[in-house]
Amino acid sequence: MTDDAASRHTPVLLQRCLDLLEPALAAEGAVMVDSTLGMGGHTEGVLRAFPHVRVVGLDRDPQALELAGRRLAPFGDRFTPVHAIYDEIGDVLARLGIAQVQGVLMDLGVSSLQLDEVDRGFSYAQDAPLDMRMDATAGLTAAEVVNTYDERELARILRVYGEERFAARIARNIVRARAAAPLTRTGELVDLLRASIPAATRKTGGHPAKRTFQALRIEVNGELEVLERAVPASIETLAVGGRIVVEAYQSLEDRIVKRAFAAGATSSAPPDLPVEPETHAPYLRLVTRGAEEADEAELARNPRSQSVRLRAAERIRPTPDHMRGPQPGRRAA
Ligand SMILES: C[S@@+](CC[C@H](N)C(=O)[O-])C[C@H]1O[C@@H](n2cnc3c(N)ncnc32)[C@H](O)[C@@H]1O
Repeated sequence: MTDDAASRHTPVLLQRCLDLLEPALAAEGAVMVDSTLGMGGHTEGVLRAFPHVRVVGLDRDPQALELAGRRLAPFGDRFTPVHAIYDEIGDVLARLGIAQVQGVLMDLGVSSLQLDEVDRGFSYAQDAPLDMRMDATAGLTAAEVVNTYDERELARILRVYGEERFAARIARNIVRARAAAPLTRTGELVDLLRASIPAATRKTGGHPAKRTFQALRIEVNGELEVLERAVPASIETLAVGGRIVVEAYQSLEDRIVKRAFAAGATSSAPPDLPVEPETHAPYLRLVTRGAEEADEAELARNPRSQSVRLRAAERIRPTPDHMRGPQPGRRAA
């Protein structure tokens, strides 16, 4: 296996991301945060396309930081790698003495590096330890989840995070299997899933392990809770005129992005007010119409773009005080 980051990953919708960020990054001294640095593909694109821009690259995976760091070393101090979870964006920038940024890019999910490193247990295609932590130095492993969560909680995770129709049956079979011996390998789990999902459904429902592996990965890495905090936190770091671009690969993530953008792009005034007070006017403008998908050319170039949903928004004024912080229960427009 090569450790050359550039040869291992084609960034999804790179040119579209650059076009969307360009108006925001044109300013002298512009800073962009790549919150999901991965192998640095998008960041390299930004550093090349906008020679005056500085990029702060975050990743929770130390291995990604190391590989991307090597790839991006030629850009010198225009690139700053930081080991962090992306909802920490505000603290990271404060530590670096950066008050506001002109761009934030998020390319969610696992990287091809993580999928390719068999031992990390993200892939159902090869037998490996049941791990699935994006940061292999911290947190619960997938083995701890399947061997310690009770049946109801397992079923809930598989149903909600994996949208798995057979969640209850799979959870029951996991609990039964682990009573004999703990599940420690992805291969054992894949065999159990094959046996749990009816043969007729297996023909149409894709790989029988796909949904369960997605669900466990989301649980192990707390992906949805982190994203719920990270999108508003990222918007908060944007200067007026700054833009955020997010690429999501499954509907649960895309819904979180859509809602957070809609909260900023919708008036917060009560509907019965005759005149909208200035403090209630939207502070974001949606730059994409709905979610953009990959076209034929992109799909041919890059199979990973298959399920991408790209959304972008621009800050048009500061966030009013009453709209700061999490916005539970606000509905998307
Ligand atoms: C799809 S890859 C990004 C690929 C990158 N855009 C490129 O061109 O090489 C997603 C990366 O985000 C990282 N990641 C996922 N969730 C994260 C989080 N909550 N905080 C920080 N990094 C995260 C993963 O470790 C992975 O390296």
